[in-house]
Amino acid sequence: MASSRLFSSLLVISLLLLAINASHSSFEQNNEIEVGNLGYNEKVNVSLYYETLCPGCEHFIVNDLANLFKMKDLMAIINLHLVPYGNAKMDYHKNIVCQHGPHECYYNNIEACALDAWPLEKSFPFIFCVETRLQQQFDEKIWVACSKNLKLDPKIIQSCYENGHGNQLILKNANETAGLKPPHEYVPWVTVNNKPLYEKIDTLISEICNAYKGQGKPKSCKGEVTSSTEKASSKFAVCHDGMSL
Ligand SMILES: *[C@@H]1O[C@H](CO)[C@@H](O)[C@H](O)[C@H]1NC(C)=O
Ligand SMILES: *[C@@H]1O[C@H](CO)[C@@H](O)[C@H](O)[C@H]1NC(C)=O
Repeated sequence: MASSRLFSSLLVISLLLLAINASHSSFEQNNEIEVGNLGYNEKVNVSLYYETLCPGCEHFIVNDLANLFKMKDLMAIINLHLVPYGNAKMDYHKNIVCQHGPHECYYNNIEACALDAWPLEKSFPFIFCVETRLQQQFDEKIWVACSKNLKLDPKIIQSCYENGHGNQLILKNANETAGLKPPHEYVPWVTVNNKPLYEKIDTLISEICNAYKGQGKPKSCKGEVTSSTEKASSKFAVCHDGMSL
């Protein structure tokens, strides 16, 4: 009896030591791959519903999302999904009308094409570049310059836009946005495992960490990292869904 109790305590202790050791080496040396593998089935779904010319969306993409992209260990545990459409509407002729006018429809379409053409590792830097420049001033050719800077082929986007594929993607985004439960009230509208963050968009990182049920919390979930990066968001101008046709 006593010896078996001793044996099981020893077993527990050695398992603990093993676990501590394993978590140390995985986080210190290779946290990206390790966390990604362990958490594969437990990934947190993060979605951004946005429109390209809303200042709050530009701000969120250029600051908060860009920060998230820098945290490789967090990126490894999420499925990030970007949905350009926002508060756009369909008119009686089934034309899409955008909150900030045709310029916005144009860039919603371009970014939808980029998201479709390239994986996020490529399309996000493209969208980051476009949104950064759009904050300063609208220009139809911003995206061409961005794709060239990033050595991405602009012809893919050009033909997606011109052959109507972009429009198909926008209709899909319209459908997805209209299907949101609860419906979005404004953009940027950020959901973590389908739950909206509402105006507490600056809690994105802690919400991801809380939602993550996989093994081994990423390093970025611990301590100061979160609070210092959360400052990036603070105040921004959301765009309300009050548009009528
Ligand atoms: C989205 O599309 C699906 C399939 O075509 C349809 O069943 C659904 O009603 C649409 N949802 C909305 C909100 O339009
Ligand atoms: C995340 O999305 C995937 C695919 O859309 C789904 O299968 C999975 O259940 C979602 N995970 C959570 C935690 O909601």
